[in-house]
Amino acid sequence: MPNSSPEPYLDLTDEEVFARISAARAALGGDALVLGHHYQTEAVVRFADVRGDSYELSKKAAGSDARLIVFCGVHFMAESADILTRPEQTVVMPDLDAGCPMADMASLGELESAWVQLAELGRPDELFLPVTYINSRAEVKAFCGLHGGLICTSANAGKALTWALQQRPKTFFLPDQHLGHNTALAQGIPPEEITLWDPVLPLGGNTREALRQARVLLWKGHCHVHTRFSPAHVAQARQAHPGALVVVHPECVHEVVAASDAAGSTGFIVRYIENAPPGSTIIVGTEINLITRLARQYRDRTILPLVSSMCPNMYKNSPRDLLHVLENPGRVNVVRVADEVREPARLALQRMLDL
Ligand code: 13P
Ligand code: SF4
Repeated sequence: MPNSSPEPYLDLTDEEVFARISAARAALGGDALVLGHHYQTEAVVRFADVRGDSYELSKKAAGSDARLIVFCGVHFMAESADILTRPEQTVVMPDLDAGCPMADMASLGELESAWVQLAELGRPDELFLPVTYINSRAEVKAFCGLHGGLICTSANAGKALTWALQQRPKTFFLPDQHLGHNTALAQGIPPEEITLWDPVLPLGGNTREALRQARVLLWKGHCHVHTRFSPAHVAQARQAHPGALVVVHPECVHEVVAASDAAGSTGFIVRYIENAPPGSTIIVGTEINLITRLARQYRDRTILPLVSSMCPNMYKNSPRDLLHVLENPGRVNVVRVADEVREPARLALQRMLDL
C-alpha cells in the first residue's frame, strides 16, 4: 500500500499535533497498541504504550489482542509484528519508508544462491543451520523457517547460536556480521572457525577448505550507525573520563565490544544505565536518540555518547506521521506480509520465542 503523505498535518503547530495524537489515541482505547522502539525520537516514543528492544516489542505484539498495532520503529519490526499477530489484526507504521539498510543487505535470491553453492560441501540442510537476525526481510525469515532455522535478536543471539550448533554442525548467520562475530566469540568459538560470507563472491569469497573448517559463517552485512564507532573512540572516551563505564550495542565491530565494559541490546543498555550507581559516568555506543533520552532521565548520572550517531530511518517516523495513522486507523500505512511468506517466517520467529 503506498505511503499517503500526511499533507493535511503540515500546517499544524507541534502543540496541535500532540493534542490531536492524544485525542486520537484516547478514542482508540484498547483497540490499539502503540509500540515504540528505543531509537524513536522523544516526540514519538512518548506516545508509546510500550517501549522496548526488538525482542521485547515482538513478544508484546505476539501477545496482543489489539485490533490495531501501531509500530513506531523500522519496517522489519512491523513485518515481524504482522507475522506474529492474527490475520484480523492490522499492523501499521507511521512512515512506511522507515526501512533498515542492514536488513536490505541480504536478499532471498542471494541466500538461495549461497545454499546452492554450499551444496559443494554436502547437503546444506544437514550441514548448515540458518540463523537470521530479526533485522532482515520477511522472505529471508521464511527461508530460515523452511530450512529448520530460527530468528534471533541482539537480546538472544547467544541462546540462538547455542541452539543452532546443537542442531547442525555449522551455523550460517545473517545478515549482521558483527552481531554474529561478537556472539560466536562470546560463545567460545575460536576465530579460525569463523569465516565471512560475501554474497557477491563465488563461495562467499572462501576456499572449500576454509568452509569445511568453519563452524560459523557470517554474512557480510553491517549497520552503518554502529560501525561508525572505533576502538580509538573508546580509548579517547576513557582518557577524557577516567573511571567511566562503556556500554555498546553488539552491532559494533568486535574491537569496540572488546574495549568496552559491556555489550547488549537496547533493552540491556537501558537496564545497564538504570542499574549504574548515581554519580557514575557511562559512555554509550549506540543510536543517539536513546542516549539523549537516558541522559535526560538519569540526571544524577553522566551519560555521554561514544560518538553521536543517528539512525536516519528510525528518525523518519515523525509525530505528524503518527497522527496520520492514528486518525485513519487501519486505512493507511498497513504492513501486510504475503501469506506464502507469513507461515514459514512465523515458524522461524516462533522458534526464537520458544527458546
Ligand atoms: P535492539 O533489538 O537491540 O533494540 O536493536 C535493534 C536495532 O536495530 C539496533 O540497531
Ligand atoms: Fe537498522 Fe542500524 Fe537503524 Fe538498527 S540502527 S534500524 S540496524 S540501520
